[in-house]
Amino acid sequence: MQGINLFLFLAFCATVICSNDVHLDRIRNTLKQLDAGEPLPRSIYKDTISKLKNEGFCTACHKVVKAIIEKRKMGSSKGTMNDYLRKMCNLYTDYGAVACKGYTEINLDTILFIIDNKHDLTPERVCSIFHQAKKCVDPKAKKWIIDLPPPLEQENEQNEVPSNGIWNIFQVTDVHYDPNYKENTKSVCEKPLCCETGTPTGPQDTAGKWGDYHVCDSPPRLFSNLYDRVKATHLDDLNAVYFTGDIISHKSWGTSKDANLAHMNGFYQALADTFKGKKVFPILGNHEPHPVDCYSPEGITEDPLSTKWVFDAAWKAWSKWLPADVEKTVKHAGYYSVLVKPGFRVIGINSNFCFVHNLWLFYEDEDPYGQLTWLVQELLKAEKNREKVHILSHVPSGHELCHLQWSKNYRRIVERFNDTIAAQFNGHTHIDEIEIFYSDENEAINVAFNGGSLTPFVGNNPNYRIYQVQLSDATVQDYQTYTFNMTEANMGSSPAWYSLYSFKEAYGLQDLSKKGLGDFVKKLNKDKMLQKKYFDFSVRNSDVLVKEGCDDKCLKTLTCKVTAVEAGDALDKCYENL
Ligand SMILES: *[C@@H]1O[C@H](CO)[C@@H](O)[C@H](O)[C@H]1NC(C)=O
Ligand SMILES: *[C@@H]1O[C@H](CO)[C@@H](O)[C@H](O)[C@H]1NC(C)=O
Ligand SMILES: [Zn+2]
Ligand SMILES: [Zn+2]
Repeated sequence: MQGINLFLFLAFCATVICSNDVHLDRIRNTLKQLDAGEPLPRSIYKDTISKLKNEGFCTACHKVVKAIIEKRKMGSSKGTMNDYLRKMCNLYTDYGAVACKGYTEINLDTILFIIDNKHDLTPERVCSIFHQAKKCVDPKAKKWIIDLPPPLEQENEQNEVPSNGIWNIFQVTDVHYDPNYKENTKSVCEKPLCCETGTPTGPQDTAGKWGDYHVCDSPPRLFSNLYDRVKATHLDDLNAVYFTGDIISHKSWGTSKDANLAHMNGFYQALADTFKGKKVFPILGNHEPHPVDCYSPEGITEDPLSTKWVFDAAWKAWSKWLPADVEKTVKHAGYYSVLVKPGFRVIGINSNFCFVHNLWLFYEDEDPYGQLTWLVQELLKAEKNREKVHILSHVPSGHELCHLQWSKNYRRIVERFNDTIAAQFNGHTHIDEIEIFYSDENEAINVAFNGGSLTPFVGNNPNYRIYQVQLSDATVQDYQTYTFNMTEANMGSSPAWYSLYSFKEAYGLQDLSKKGLGDFVKKLNKDKMLQKKYFDFSVRNSDVLVKEGCDDKCLKTLTCKVTAVEAGDALDKCYENL
């Protein structure tokens, strides 16, 4: 009897639906065990959570979040909730016990504040935001839309004389400074960041001198090397620097306000010392706050919830580069707009508000700090004054983890001001890549350059970029990515930086005009060899990732990401059509 049942069950379970059911049952059971205080398996991440498909995954998320909210609403104390959430973290993630303990303690105040004060908080809301990439939906989500001014009717007469010449702009991003990085420690470990402790078993898990392809961040000596390299090779030719965020390491379970501040200040000071006399335009990354990713919304003023200290620290450091009149917006929420030269403006935004791992989005997601509304006003002023604008933004607006509604609004803004925005500059993905915006008429209308990362995290060779920008219209004429072979550097020498590629030359482009960028996309879409080249460059020819390779599916995804500039189903659509 049992045998037959088992057979039927297995036959039935050949479908995804059923395997979801089996996994969901497990989650239901573990939730019961949790409540009953029964012993739990260490983690069911690998054999359950990671196997759940979109719909099943969202159902599981709803169950878990519902249990958390109810537990608190039933009057559980902070201590009880800490214990409960830590156990859940151990059970439902693969972060490991040490990281789970840290994450829970660090995020507890934020989580409890949101449950206690957001009275209409639902599991659907939480899951649809945090797991938007899994297509979890909230039927009640507000589809907020920013007003856009109509195109200007009249040509403006007082046209300023635009500046002349070419500027070389240096971009470095995602440096992720790890003060605890130690050469010859273990580079393979249970935690979400390694290369800090432990005795390796052999060369394959030994942290390298200059960094490591495993889950490790940048050693301090990588920074000194970069600064020496800049001074020796580029400094005289450079006009400005774009730093597009992420200073703090990925040891996000062990951050503190004081340590973050110290590392931010140290890095900004090093930039000032290295690029003496140059204009530096920095923006904030999602790793600068403590807890990581969590930028509190306007109106949250109490310690330790408020992130005002990040904005204050930013202004304190940035005031050596930025004019006094942007103090107000930097201290408000970390964004600013600066006229660099007549006709050329740089707008630095804080797109970390759109990153769905920012728990505060559960509390309030509608245009945090009025930033997009402000951006529209700044762009309108620029348009009227016939200025051309560079936008610096840490999280690419089309990233699958950039909040859907924010991403949609941002894209509308880029379309409306496609003539005023000359280029955008991103970080965050650690991938050397490009995003090209299209109009409904299928014409390339804008571009976002992604500067890769200094940290190898994970698998990459460190890199920086230099752009040639024509001042008269702020268009990017070309750029070069510089990198070094980390395998080689770790074999005893020191980093031998070299120019990996020049964009125009590598892809045989006439220029980087909108038409030129459109041609690039056309070429890339139909040429697998070119896609392979794009992949190799994206990881900066890293030995491990190039060897691992990028199969057809991977190349397709990489190619689709170039034009998927709005979070949501753009990627799926491209995927079907390519
Ligand atoms: C691009 O900008 C121009 C000039 O403002 C405008 O006329 C055009 O409608 C914009 N394109 C899109 C797709 O919105
Ligand atoms: C990097 O250096 C290693 C060691 O010298 C070498 O085997 C490898 O081919 C190099 N990789 C590239 C992409 O040049
Ligand atoms: Zn980063
Ligand atoms: Zn980031």
